[in-house]
Amino acid sequence: MSASRTSDLWWKNGIIYCLDVETFLDTDGDGTGDFEGLTDRVDYLAGIGVTCIWLMPFYPSPNRDDGYDITDYYSVDPSLGSLGDLVAFIRTAKDRGMRVIVDLVVNHTSDQHPWFRSARQSTDNPKRDWYVWAEDEPAQPHAENVFPDAEDSVWTKDDKTGEWYLHHFYSHQPDLNIGNPEVLEEIAKIAGFWLQVGVDGFRVDAVPFLIETQPTDVDGELSLDPHELIRDLRAFMSRRRGDSVLLGEVNLPADQLVDFFGDDDELELLFDFPLMQQMYLALARCDAGPLRGALDARPEIPEDAQWAIFVRNHDELTLDQLSDDERQEVFDAFGPDEDMQLFGRGLRRRLPPMLDGDPDRIRMVYSLLFSLPGTPVLFYGEEIGMGENLDIEGRLSVRTPMQWTDGKNAGFSSARPSRLARPVPEGQFGPLAVNVADQRRQPDSLLTWMQQMIRRRRETPEFGWGAPTVLDSGDDAVLVHRCDWERTAVVAVHNLSPTPRELRIDLGPMDGCDQVIDLLDQAQPALDVDGSSLEVKLAGYAHKWFRLQRSEAATPA
Ligand code: NOJ
Repeated sequence: MSASRTSDLWWKNGIIYCLDVETFLDTDGDGTGDFEGLTDRVDYLAGIGVTCIWLMPFYPSPNRDDGYDITDYYSVDPSLGSLGDLVAFIRTAKDRGMRVIVDLVVNHTSDQHPWFRSARQSTDNPKRDWYVWAEDEPAQPHAENVFPDAEDSVWTKDDKTGEWYLHHFYSHQPDLNIGNPEVLEEIAKIAGFWLQVGVDGFRVDAVPFLIETQPTDVDGELSLDPHELIRDLRAFMSRRRGDSVLLGEVNLPADQLVDFFGDDDELELLFDFPLMQQMYLALARCDAGPLRGALDARPEIPEDAQWAIFVRNHDELTLDQLSDDERQEVFDAFGPDEDMQLFGRGLRRRLPPMLDGDPDRIRMVYSLLFSLPGTPVLFYGEEIGMGENLDIEGRLSVRTPMQWTDGKNAGFSSARPSRLARPVPEGQFGPLAVNVADQRRQPDSLLTWMQQMIRRRRETPEFGWGAPTVLDSGDDAVLVHRCDWERTAVVAVHNLSPTPRELRIDLGPMDGCDQVIDLLDQAQPALDVDGSSLEVKLAGYAHKWFRLQRSEAATPA
């Protein structure tokens, strides 16, 4: 494949790192992170090997949903810095070879947004039709609210005009009306603005809700193709910047999810929620079956599209696509206390505490993240194995300050601890035990391992570009998958069980390859292959990556 194609389609093979400026590094001592702090740590991120930074919302906001409730789409919340500080950050990130994407949250605004403040003034206000209203409360709401602990409906009555407005999320987040062309124009203007500022694309929030037309279509008059909105946005962005990307949050079963790639004309990247949920089931069972099933069930995707793989994101670890019994299995294994669960569908924990800090098992899971076909997305702090703080309410338990040192406030801020954006956790996963400063000096730390893995992953483009196949491992506990790309193939082996295994793996067609290189174990340059099968000994929770290549090819580093 041509070098220009692989670099143009950078999202096929990047390493994305998600962070919230608010909790990354505070330089002015007010207890809240800021863009100056983030800029200061750009070299840290470049050093890990991240290729793209995804910023969670930084826009002005009353912060009732951690910034996903926006009052101004064209600015930066003053608590985080200025637009100038943001531009300085983007410039620095680019200088270090990283791209920057930002959250595009246009399913809804804050109820404090001037548009909504105007809209609720009167039924004939020019902004009225920017939101979705019903004269009477719909007898049968078309959907359930996403936050069932806080809201019992997607409709709330507005006292001023006595009508009901739609909100799929909190009642302070009224949904915008995509049936209104003015709103669509504005969405393009917002995207265009940030592209002009220099971002490389967007993580699009709540896509299925954004494009839903049903509640607006009460009279059956709306002749809107919901996917047209995404196609139009994609086309608009391509006109402005050809290599910009749209990464969509679409938590749907795989057969519906794939529609959001369109015909290579909608979203380029989609989080693989189904695979993630099956991965946790597989971990809970110490059985590779669910993962194998999810990989086999993955639909084909267009050529330029890519799956975004993740172990943890900033929300509850949702398990909503599992059956009730399966979800209970995962709860029993990784979050048995009610306080660890949320909305009856997810967990509010990070991975290391769920795995009792077992270093081999944690590394095995991250090896999956880096080798499952797709583009890995890390959530800040995963590289050092941060835990959650269950004393913090709801989903925010996993959004604690980045743990830089074992000093005051984890080195995040010099403020009085009571002023911190969020309290740091204590105990086994708190900053005294888990922090960047210590781990960067330890050759066997998770951070050191993570850096090496990311480097290896970047040098193994087969996982991003290749055609995947699940191989028969002959052992229920072991997942073996292979990705073929151009003249090589890589094979990844993961033992999901705590017990050692020995297997002979049938590698499949060798296609002229006569050498197998162990990519993670430097002591073992080339392995004996018997025909096309390979004998592998695995410790409990072990992971291995191999490359099949021609012996005349240059030996990889
Ligand atoms: C999805 C985001 O990930 C979540 O954090 C937010 O609360 C909702 N969308 C509403 O914007």
